[in-house]
Amino acid sequence: GLPAGGGGRVSAASGPASVAGLLGEIADVGRDATRGGWSRFVYADAELTLREWFVEQAQRRSLEVETDRNGAIWAWRPGTGPGGGAGSPHAIVTGSHLDSVPGGGAFDGPLGVASALAAVDLLDARGVRTERPLAVVAFPEEEGARFGVACLGSRLLAGAIDPDRARGLRDADGRTFAEVAAGAGLDVDRIGPDPARLAGIDAFVELHVEQGRGLVDLGQPVAIGSSILGHGRWRFSVTGEGNHAGTTRMPDRRDPMVVAAGIVLAARDAAVAHAEARATVGRVVPVPGGTNVIASRVDLWLDARHPDDAVTAAVVAEIERQASRLAEAQGCAVTLTEESYGGTVSFDADLSGRLAQVLPEAPVLDTGAGHDAGVLAAAIPTAMLFTRNPTGVSHSPEEACEDGDAEAGAAALADVLERLLRE
Ligand code: GLV
Ligand code: MN
Ligand code: MN
Ligand code: MN
Repeated sequence: GLPAGGGGRVSAASGPASVAGLLGEIADVGRDATRGGWSRFVYADAELTLREWFVEQAQRRSLEVETDRNGAIWAWRPGTGPGGGAGSPHAIVTGSHLDSVPGGGAFDGPLGVASALAAVDLLDARGVRTERPLAVVAFPEEEGARFGVACLGSRLLAGAIDPDRARGLRDADGRTFAEVAAGAGLDVDRIGPDPARLAGIDAFVELHVEQGRGLVDLGQPVAIGSSILGHGRWRFSVTGEGNHAGTTRMPDRRDPMVVAAGIVLAARDAAVAHAEARATVGRVVPVPGGTNVIASRVDLWLDARHPDDAVTAAVVAEIERQASRLAEAQGCAVTLTEESYGGTVSFDADLSGRLAQVLPEAPVLDTGAGHDAGVLAAAIPTAMLFTRNPTGVSHSPEEACEDGDAEAGAAALADVLERLLRE
C-alpha cells in the first residue's frame, strides 16, 4: 500500500528517468572555459544551480526535501512505518556529491546522485513499498576544492572535523567557510556532529564512477567497492625574498619557487621509493605571482596516499627533510602543516556481502580515491558501487561513462536498495 499519510506518489509521466538524461540536464552547469571540463565549487553559482536542480528532481518524485545542519540535502522517500517520513529510523541512504575539482569530469559525484534518482524511479516502477524509508543525499564540498578539506559535509556530520576549524577554513579569495555558508543560508553556528541523524541510518550505499581501469580490464559494468586508500593533504609554505627578476643577480636571490620545485621532485622520489605510495603536488600558489617577480612566498599542497599510515607518515617526513635542506640552501624558510588525514577504510563486510548476493557477477575492487562513504564508514554500515569508466581517467574532463553502463549502474543500485529496504 501507499505510505501512511504520504498521499499518492507520482511517478514521472515518462516512466523511470535515464541516468544519461538526468546528467544531460546539467551538462552545461559549471562548464569551465578556461580549464576545460567542469568547475562546480561548493556554494558558488554552479553548485547552487545543481542543488536547485536536485531539489526540483526530488520534488518531481514527491520526495521530502530537507537540508541538514551541515548543508547536505536529503530527499526522503518515506517508508510505510509509523512516522515514516524524513529522518525516520532504519533508513537506507544512497547518494554522492555535486561539487567537483577544478576542471573536473562530468561524473565524479553527479553520477551517484543521478543514479540514485533513477533508482528511485525504478523502485517506484516496481511498486516497491517498504516500512523502511529511503533517502537520497547530496553532500557538500566532497572534493575540498574550495575550502581545502575533502568530504567536509560528511566529516562535520560524523564529527570528524571540529566545527570551529571548519568555520575558519578559507577559500582562495580569503573568504571563510562560515561567511560563505552563511551567505548560502546555512546557520553556521549549528554545524557539527549529528549523531541522531546517523543513528537513524541502517546502511549507506554510494555509487560512483570508477576512477581507474579495473572494470574495463575485467569487462564488467559494475563493481562492489572494498576499501579506500588512506590519504591526506599537507601544505608547505616556503618564504624567501620577493624581488625584481631583472635586477637581482642569481647568487643574491632567496627564491622560494626554487625550493618549491625541489619539493615537487622530492615528493615524487619519496613515493617512488615505497610500493603502493602516491604523492602529488597538484596546486602551487606563488605570492604575488608575476612573471617578472621573484616570489616572496610559495604555498604548495601535497596529497599523499598509502594503505599503511606509517608509510604515509614516512613519505611525508622524507619530503619534509628534503624541503628543509632545500630551503636552507636557498636562504628560505619552510613550514609544513597537515590539513587532513584519514587512514585506509574497509567497507562493512556484512553489508558488502549482501550487495554481492544481489550482484553475483560484480567484481570487488578497492580504490585510491576518497569518498563521503569513507568518512561515514566510521559511523554506519557503508558500502560502494562503481560504474565502469572507459577511459579510466578521473579528476579530468576525460572521465567517462557510457550510457548503457550508467543504466546498468542505476539498475544495480535499485536492486541493492530494494534488497536492503525489504530486510
Ligand atoms: C577525491 O576524489 C579524492 O580522492 O581526492
Ligand atoms: Mn535500525
Ligand atoms: Mn573526486
Ligand atoms: Mn567523488
